[in-house]
Amino acid sequence: MTELTQAATGSAAQADGKGGHPLWSSRLAFILAASGSAVGLGNIWKFPYITGENGGGAFVLVYLLCIALIGIPIMVAEVMIGRRGGASPINSMRKLASRDNLSRRWIWIGGMGMVASFLILSFYSVIGGWALSYVGNSAGGLFVGSSSDEIGALFGNLLSDPYTLLLWHSVFMVLVIMIVARGVSSGMEKAINILMPVLFVLLLVMVGYAMSTDSFGAGFEFLFSPDFSKLTTEGVLTALGHAFFTLSLGMGVMMAYGSYLPKNVSIVKTAVTVSVVDTAVALLAGLAIFPLVFANGMEAGAGPGLIFQTLPIAFGQMSGGVVFGTLFFVLLVVAAVTSAISLLEPVVEWFEEQKGISRLTGAFIGGGSIWALGILTILSLNVWSDFAPLGMFERFEGKTIFDLLDYVTANLMMPLGGLFIALFVGWFMSKPSAENELSFGSVFAFNCFMFILRYITPAAVLVVFVYNLL
Ligand code: TRP
Repeated sequence: MTELTQAATGSAAQADGKGGHPLWSSRLAFILAASGSAVGLGNIWKFPYITGENGGGAFVLVYLLCIALIGIPIMVAEVMIGRRGGASPINSMRKLASRDNLSRRWIWIGGMGMVASFLILSFYSVIGGWALSYVGNSAGGLFVGSSSDEIGALFGNLLSDPYTLLLWHSVFMVLVIMIVARGVSSGMEKAINILMPVLFVLLLVMVGYAMSTDSFGAGFEFLFSPDFSKLTTEGVLTALGHAFFTLSLGMGVMMAYGSYLPKNVSIVKTAVTVSVVDTAVALLAGLAIFPLVFANGMEAGAGPGLIFQTLPIAFGQMSGGVVFGTLFFVLLVVAAVTSAISLLEPVVEWFEEQKGISRLTGAFIGGGSIWALGILTILSLNVWSDFAPLGMFERFEGKTIFDLLDYVTANLMMPLGGLFIALFVGWFMSKPSAENELSFGSVFAFNCFMFILRYITPAAVLVVFVYNLL
């Protein structure tokens, strides 16, 4: 495992000189790697569209609360387990559980995370494919002078064509498989560390453009002025699930990354930094998109196509739009790929550890199966768009296979994984271990943190769950 994650995370993880487990070269290296996993389609594609579907402000407020009260504590807990265990998620859990004489069943957290990674990547790659195809659309000047109807039709045509979707899904998956099979090279990692800040700047440019429309106020208000009458209980569950999804939590990814974190780095500060960066990207994406939605008389609740139907309008109108548009979609692909790597990695790792299969073969078998599963998502968008396998249950009425995959992973598996991680650290792992690992320097701060992790986080997850079931 050591070598694997090291390969995946690249040159940042270096041997600690004592022949032990390798460590990140610095706090910044960890922040960049963890942000690379966190910032992805979840921030730029998913956050705006679920915000639109759930009525805006009130949903955003709940989402921000979930990040602060649930997301950050769980990220701290995950990173802490990883650093303490110093191994792959399953082995870290095994070590910590046996050290404190706890049940071996705790390793199931790692197992569930792996299954969830598998399921998520199958549809994540299809959306990554949309972004890839939009690189071509933009470079080819297809947005220039197009009306919002024409841009809507462009997206509609993409979704209705399974072969084109399959082509781009395959290209995306091959890219991810190749990178994971070879390990991230240091050159590529350096490139990513430059490209991610560029994406941030480009989002600022888009927000600047949105400010020049006369609907910036309307977009801003939609995002930040809460109207609780628009919030449903399912919306609360979606916000909770998205907090996990966007921070890459509840599945052991942060545990794996944490196992490379040097002992002297503050886990809490680092987790807060990653979460703030991630949230900032999502909010900027929202600020760039909603003014365009209102300026063009579109539906905020348009669904998964939202960014593909709004941003191209802006690229088609602004000067230099072909360049900005192409750059934007290239960077969206880069952000998606860096997240996808962290989703395939655990699967490949498992093949290596359990089955003794080489990294290369594991990447192809794991990635290939995920690719095949992705076909279900593709078909959900066209041929099977009316097929709701669980339609007999009221809750799942009209939900396609794609909707179900998203629902089960983000709304059920990740929060459950997170709940158990919080319970493990809050109630089961020995307290001195946690105290030592977190080195708050203040007993009060540590106790506050433990209080949140023991009571607030599990209670919040449980309440949202139970409320939703009833
Ligand atoms: N956080 C990524 C995004 O927002 C998605 C992701 C990557 C993820 N790795 C993960 C989600 C691990 C959960 C767990 O796009």
